[in-house]
Parts: sequence; structure tokens; C-alpha cells
Amino acid sequence: MKAPDQQSARDQTARQKASHSFETNAGYLSKSYRDGAGTYDLDLGRMGYCGPTVVAELAAATQTAYFAKERAVITILDAGCGTGLVGLQLKRLGFQLIDGIDLFEEMAEKARQTRVYRHVRSNVDLNGPPSDHASASYDITVCCGVFVLRHVRPQGLRELARVTRPKGFVIASTRTSYVEATGFDSEVQRLQDAGVLVLVQRLNDARYLAEENAHYWVFQVPEKASAPTEERP
Ligand SMILES: C[S@@+](CC[C@H](N)C(=O)[O-])C[C@H]1O[C@@H](n2cnc3c(N)ncnc32)[C@H](O)[C@@H]1O
Repeated sequence: MKAPDQQSARDQTARQKASHSFETNAGYLSKSYRDGAGTYDLDLGRMGYCGPTVVAELAAATQTAYFAKERAVITILDAGCGTGLVGLQLKRLGFQLIDGIDLFEEMAEKARQTRVYRHVRSNVDLNGPPSDHASASYDITVCCGVFVLRHVRPQGLRELARVTRPKGFVIASTRTSYVEATGFDSEVQRLQDAGVLVLVQRLNDARYLAEENAHYWVFQVPEKASAPTEERP
């Protein structure tokens, strides 16, 4: 087999594995997050979860490095905000204009209770068609712990890019096993080729949970971003 064929066979195997991993979404997620919202922070705390701290600190470094305006006026969307762990870290670092979205109302309500968000919306599915959020709304979009097997497919990155303004940033974590199983790299390449996002930084194999490391990605939306409308499942 020639090299490109081998690559496409690898991509196909990864896609097959990934689609299998996403089959049981509804029941698995509902059990984890509808029933588990009350104990989520405690459970993650026991598991040494430091993803929200890393993502928020990357957002802070990105603001210092790239934005002339001060941190307090940067608009941030926390996509898949869960109970608000990332929002709390963002607030600690001086961000003030933070919105959240999540699939489950139970998690969104916990996030609202932190009082660090301006607005938190539930029933927003990053695996679905583009949401009714206006395009180019946010300076920075963060997404921590959401590109996880049986959660959000790599194609969800398009929606994150869509709601982020040109020259804004998308910061996301991916468990290392997720990248291997889903071909996340290939989706990143597709989006870069289409002019939707540019990868400006990646922390490889960094601390995330005691049981597994993650990669942390910082993307920039180009000044003249292509309208990322097609190819949503
Ligand atoms: C592991 S939690 C991470 C929560 C938070 N970002 C954090 O780091 O603590 C994953 C979150 O993604 C949400 N989620 C899962 N699938 C989703 C989807 N398709 N669209 C939007 N959110 C989703 C879950 O409801 C849950 O709150």
C-alpha cells in the first residue's frame, strides 16, 4: 500500500472506532451528567482534574500576548461549561465577560450558581447543526473536557470557530486517547486547509487527569475566515 493509502486506511479505522464510540452518547451522557451533576466537582477533584486551570491560564496568556484591550473586557464563551470549573478559573484570572453553553440543564444550572457567568444556556448540542448563537461573537472560546469519547466529535470545532470573531482564539483540550481514536488531527488539518482555523500553539501530552494526559490546543480564527457552514453531521 502506498503512503497516502495507508494514511487514508488509518483515518478510516480511526473514524470507524470513533463512530462506534459515539453510538451510545445519549444514555451514557445523560447518566453521567443529568444524574451526576451534584457530585461532578467532587468526583473530578478526587481524580486530580487540572484541565480547567490549564485552559484558563492559556486563555490568560493568549490575552496578554495578543490583545491590546484589557482582560476585563474580553468576551469569552465556555463551551461545554459543565458545572463552571473553567469559569471559576477564568474569573480568578480577571476575565469578567464569560458566557457558558452546555447540553444539559442540570450542569448549566450548577454553572449559573457559581455566579461567574453573564449567561448560561443549556440544550446546545455541539454535535448538532450550528446553534442560533450569532457568528463571530466572542474574542476567545474555551472548551475543556468536551472533546472526549462519547461526547463531542472533532467536527464540533467548526461551531467553536464560527462563534469566535476573526483574529479571536479557540482553546480546547483533547485527551490523548481521543486524538488517537478519532483522527482529531485530520479534522484540524481540514479546517486549516479550509481557512477556518490556524493552530498557533499546542501543549503536548500535558497534565489533565491523574489517569490520563491531554493535549491543549490554541487556534486562531483568520482575519478573513471562511464561513464554516457545511459538513456538520
Ligand atoms: C467532562 S465535562 C467538562 C465540563 C467543564 N468544561 C469542565 O472542564 O469541568 C463535559 C461537559 O460537556 C457537556 N457535553 C457533552 N456532550 C455535549 C454536546 N454534544 N454539546 C454540548 N455539551 C456537551 C456535558 O454536559 C458536560 O458538562
